[in-house]
Amino acid sequence: MGNLKVTMTDVNGVTTTFDNVEEGTSLMELGKQNDIAGIMGDCGGGCACATCHVYVTDEWFAKVGEPDDIEFAMLDMVSDVQKPTSRLGCQIKMKPDLDGIEVTVAPSSSY
Ligand code: FES
Repeated sequence: MGNLKVTMTDVNGVTTTFDNVEEGTSLMELGKQNDIAGIMGDCGGGCACATCHVYVTDEWFAKVGEPDDIEFAMLDMVSDVQKPTSRLGCQIKMKPDLDGIEVTVAPSSSY
């Protein structure tokens, strides 16, 4: 068990806060392990399905950073719902810098 904090709002608007997240755990893994509605993680974290699409809050996006080209291409395929702060949950790995991060699961992740 780690000690990092993540607040996740699922596709139904239910917010859950985890405060024992281990460093290195991706937000997709965290969502899947805890049955967060809308996080499917179909491709197992390979950046190839976008069923782990989340919106990062503006405040946290600066720390999380922009997606790389491959991730951006994947997000582009779900562009109907893309926000500037869209990221793939499997590409966000927890680290001390991200302690306290808040994300909302995007509707497109439940395709
Ligand atoms: S789990 Fe498939 S892209 Fe993230």
